[in-house]
This record gives sequence, structure tokens and C-alpha cells, in this order.
Amino acid sequence: MARRQGISNTLGQDALILGIETSCDETAASVVQGGRKILSNVIASQVDLHRLYGGVVPEIASRKHIELIMPVVDLALQEADVELEALDAIAVTYGPGLVGALLVGLSTAKAMALALDCPLVGVNHIEGHIYANVLEHPTVEPPLVCLTVSGGHTDLLYIDTYGDYEILGRTRDDAAGEAFDKIARVLGLDYPGGPEIARLATGGNPEAIDFPRGLMQADTYDFSFSGLKTAAINYVHTIRQRGDELNTPDIAASLQAAIVDVLAQKTVAAAKAYGVKTILLSGGVGANEALRNELTKTAGCLGMKVYYPSKVLCTDNAAMIACAGHYRFIRGERSPWSLNAAPQLRLGDPVA
Ligand code: KG4
Ligand code: ZN
Repeated sequence: MARRQGISNTLGQDALILGIETSCDETAASVVQGGRKILSNVIASQVDLHRLYGGVVPEIASRKHIELIMPVVDLALQEADVELEALDAIAVTYGPGLVGALLVGLSTAKAMALALDCPLVGVNHIEGHIYANVLEHPTVEPPLVCLTVSGGHTDLLYIDTYGDYEILGRTRDDAAGEAFDKIARVLGLDYPGGPEIARLATGGNPEAIDFPRGLMQADTYDFSFSGLKTAAINYVHTIRQRGDELNTPDIAASLQAAIVDVLAQKTVAAAKAYGVKTILLSGGVGANEALRNELTKTAGCLGMKVYYPSKVLCTDNAAMIACAGHYRFIRGERSPWSLNAAPQLRLGDPVA
């Protein structure tokens, strides 16, 4: 049974961090040792529940988190074979995300930290996604360019040192995952739409429909997916109004190609401009095979290497939060008891 290393062990080689993540529709807890070793990674997904409504219903998500959070934390400790008293810190997502959902994880983490007299470390969810790569590829070091692309965010970053982020570009409207999900819904596909579109795309022609590639030629690293969303929805409505049959595999493949093209091209262009040879991909959309392949191929032609986490660490999980929290903890960062949920938190905002 693991024992607490002591708060004075700020080198934290073996520090045991409990991560808690409840920003959207996964209730997750994980114990990570030394920022590298995942001792447990428990994820209770609410996807089946929200699928009935075609997307996440915030009030239902909060209520479900309340039911699940303690059993999930207990299971994470049990699977890790770690006693509560052995924890060196509790890391928790405090934003961005759904306010009610965030508050469940945050209140739990605060109560536990207070009761255990253990440090509390607030973690930005987007930073967590970046650290999923640190867990899986511990030898990869900055400088590098990182694309974090998810249901709620699309950020392109230059990272000189972990923990210090230069935002090169971000979406001006919808996130890439949001575009996948919203168009999938119009096509009558299940939530979440990204994996459904990816599955259908394997049987379709990516050149069948010439969907717009937002800001592709513009002199910016920002992204825009709302034009693509409108074009795809109009396309579907027009076909339906004509009474014709939809070729969903072709639509899925063409849509995926439009999203992948712009993500891969801008990411590689940024890496080239910043003179780096390493690219990280993270976030739920990072699970997309076409994106992984296109990015690897395009970057490979320029001698760059692309890294991404396994699929379970791409989508929301608490191991990435524990890992990001570990590095903040060993730098001596602590969050105050007044730490509040920050639904609109962005990467680069002052640390709480
Ligand atoms: O990181 P994540 O689990 O939650 C957020 O922080 O938003 O990402 C969820 C998003 C959803 O939009 C989902 O459709 C998308 O990631 N996604 C995918 C794939 N797997 C998940 N999108 C495209 N292809 C996939 N294979
Ligand atoms: Zn996420």
C-alpha cells in the first residue's frame, strides 16, 4: 500500500496525485505516480444517457456527476491500491466546461483536500489534454507545436517549456469536434458524432463534395468551422428537399477531409514557421485516424515527427489532469480554497 511522500518532497519523483475530471459528460478519477505512471484511470461515461437527447444536457450531466463522483474516486483509489492518506495532492479540472458539471468535481476535490490536509491544484482542462502526451511520450521535449482539438476547443500552440503556452491560433467560432457533432446530428447519427462520421467515412469518397475549408488560405493560424457547418447542413437539406437519397458515407468522408485538411495544413505550417521538428496532437478529435495519418504524412515530408496519445487518453479522462497537476504541484503551485469553476477559461489565462 502506497504511503504519502510528504509535502516537503517537492521533487515529487514518486508523488501520488489524484486527478478529478467532471468538465462535461465523463465522470473520471485517476491516480498518477511521479507524473508518469498511471496507477488507475476510471472513466464513467454518461454518453448513453445524453445520446437520447442528441447531445449533452448540462443539468442531467451535473446530476449524474453527483451520483457517480464518489464511487468513481473510490474505484480509482482501489485500483491504484492507494489509501486516501497517501495522496500528495488532489488535482482537479476547474475550467473550461459546463459550470454545474465542473462544480461537482471541484467541490469534491476541495472537500477531500481540506479533510486530508492535502494540497489542491486546479488544472485547466485544455492543459490536461496536452499532458496526455507527456504521459504517453515522456521523452518528448519542447520546443514543439501542439494542436489541441476537441468538442469545445481548437487551439494551436507553440510550447517552449511545458506550462508556458504561446497561442498561435484558435477557432473563431465552432470547435472542430462541435462541427463533427452538429453535422452528424443533422445526418441522424448518434452522439458523439465524431466517431460516427469517422466510421462512415471509411466507406466514402473524400472528394465527392467540395466542402469549404475555412481560413485555409488566410494569413492566420486561426480556424473557422461555422461556414463548413452551414454548407454541410444546407447540402443535406437540399438533397432531402429534392427527395433524393443521401450518400452519407460520401458526406462523412468529404466533411472529415475538409476538417482534417485545414487542421493538418495549419499545424504543419506553424511548425515550419517556428522551426520545430516536433508536433503534438491532443484532445478528443485527436482520436481521428484520418487526422493522425494526414498530419503524420504532411509533417513527415518536412522531417517532422508527430505524437498523439492512445485513444482513451485523447478523449476526456482524469489521468491527464493528474499529470498536468503533478507538474504544477512540483513547481510549488497551490490553488486557494476560493478556487471557483471557470466555464470560459482559456489556455494562457492566469493560473488560479
Ligand atoms: O476531449 P473530448 O472528449 O471532450 C472535450 O473536451 O470536448 O472531445 C470530444 C470530442 C467530440 O466532439 C467527439 O465527437 C470528438 O471529440 N471525437 C472525434 C473522434 N472521437 C471523438 N472526432 C472525430 N473522430 C473521432 N474518432
Ligand atoms: Zn476535453
